[in-house]
Amino acid sequence: MEIIVQSDAETAGKLAARMIRRQIETKPDSVLGLATGGTPLPLYRELIRMHKEEGLDFSRVTTFNLDEYIGLAPEHPRSYHAFMHETFFRHVNISADSIHIPDGLTRDVEALCADYESRILAAGGIDLQVLGIGTDGHIGFNEPGSSLASRTRIKTLTPQTLSDNARFFEEGEIQPHHVITMGIGTILDSRRILLLAFGANKAEAVAAAAEGPITASVPASALQLHPKAHLFLDEPAAEKLTRADYYRWVYDQKPGWQKNI
Ligand code: F6R
Repeated sequence: MEIIVQSDAETAGKLAARMIRRQIETKPDSVLGLATGGTPLPLYRELIRMHKEEGLDFSRVTTFNLDEYIGLAPEHPRSYHAFMHETFFRHVNISADSIHIPDGLTRDVEALCADYESRILAAGGIDLQVLGIGTDGHIGFNEPGSSLASRTRIKTLTPQTLSDNARFFEEGEIQPHHVITMGIGTILDSRRILLLAFGANKAEAVAAAAEGPITASVPASALQLHPKAHLFLDEPAAEKLTRADYYRWVYDQKPGWQKNI
């Protein structure tokens, strides 16, 4: 696991964007796994800037999102379809046919999940997966207790996650309790993983994921098994890491060309 601590979320997001740019430039038909939520916003802003100002080309890129709320239509403003369209897809030249997000209105969840897995395989697998982390240590919506070998399936959100995400819903709006999410096994099959975490409220989950035991109780700890997992943190999210100084030192030792990706 490579742990990169930056002063703030914007700087860390920009650095993560450079890694994605390198991925796309090396392989223009890359398959990207994408996340929603507040965390990837600085990353998406920077990718949009790279597209508009530097011509970063998404025309051959394929994407698979991690998750979607069950019961929300793609057009629903709180759906992850709508979120992705608003915050990222509509600003870059990605083809609509190349975007994959689970359908929250499916009548056959099991068939949809199997199909989602097949589509990832048919696309050649995910080259680079972007992740956030829940305050309870979830990745995707694999809540604590999720099998580390799990595949795309239905999950029930924890009260903690529901309360963390209540900020995205207006008063009186129904907040779904169920989601379709890629599994931890699905995520671990990606060739490279970028997990972003910002803010002091993520510090405990980050420390448990990076330095604690590998356990289903902290789903993100499964990333310790991945040979190419990179954690992009701001200072507050890194504050509970016991080896933070060492990670900073490792990063400082890198030659400039590697640091600047
Ligand atoms: C989102 C996802 C979740 C979020 C996590 C953090 O697609 O799968 O794991 O990454 O809940 O959410 P934020 O970034 O809003 O703190």
